[in-house]
Amino acid sequence: MKRFPLRIIAIGSLAMFLSQTAMAADEKPKTIAGASASMLSNTCAGCHGTYGASNGPSIPTLAGMSSAYLVETMLGYKSGEIPSTIMGRLAKGYTDDEINLMGEYFAKQKFVAAKGQKVDADKAAKGAELHEKYCEKCHSESGMAAEDDSGFLKGQWKSYLAAQMMDYQNKDRKATKKMAKQLTKMHKKHGPSGIEELIEYYSSGE
Ligand code: HEC
Ligand code: HEC
Repeated sequence: MKRFPLRIIAIGSLAMFLSQTAMAADEKPKTIAGASASMLSNTCAGCHGTYGASNGPSIPTLAGMSSAYLVETMLGYKSGEIPSTIMGRLAKGYTDDEINLMGEYFAKQKFVAAKGQKVDADKAAKGAELHEKYCEKCHSESGMAAEDDSGFLKGQWKSYLAAQMMDYQNKDRKATKKMAKQLTKMHKKHGPSGIEELIEYYSSGE
């Protein structure tokens, strides 16, 4: 069984709904966007939390993320361009239309910042300065502005962010040219402790 069990249930009830409305069962759910978007998105809740607000610690929050970023990331998982432990296999089970619907759904949810993460205050203070200097330009409002289409930084779960930073460092996840330039600059001047400080900052409450 390639597909996720919950999803089969969702598709089952969707097919029933579609036959009731005298539409072909294989017609794309696009026509009933409201219902199908939430049905599809419910299959993500087991890991990403209700409405996409994750309970952590290694699973990122999706709630409030821009549709453009979610879609781009899902397509990156699907093609293998973005490395992952789980999402690559999972993303392959969804069509691009379904991914677009989920993108719209999660963009409408309210972002909930990760709570209760352990933080080293001194490192977080240094991280705030590094963020301002090297990252804020594209990750504005401390990386909490969905409209930047670049994921959430502050308020995202720490182990997820740490894993992403490691993937960017190792070039397993490819950063845009400009971000790579800033990361390299930051790393040259501040070394691995700079990355640690940034992550402490992003983990330090709202
Ligand atoms: C079995 C658990 C699980 C399920 C179910 C799941 N995810 Fe994920 N998701 C993860 C993990 C773990 C990561 C971190 C990347 C990785 O290692 O796969 C992640 C990462 C993501 C990211 C990247 C977020 C960012 O900040 O870049 C997106 C987007 C995402 N998932 C979307 C979804 C959607 C949409 C669904 C439902 C179709 C879903 N996920 C279902 C576990 C899951
Ligand atoms: C020139 C613009 C730019 C700069 C500068 C930049 N970023 Fe990014 N960042 C992006 C974009 C665009 C993405 C979306 C994903 C991608 O392209 O890899 C992103 C994604 C990320 C992600 C992944 C988020 C997720 O949810 O998975 C992290 C982590 C990150 N950036 C950290 C940083 C840090 C730390 C700095 C500063 C040292 C920085 N970025 C500087 C543009 C930038």
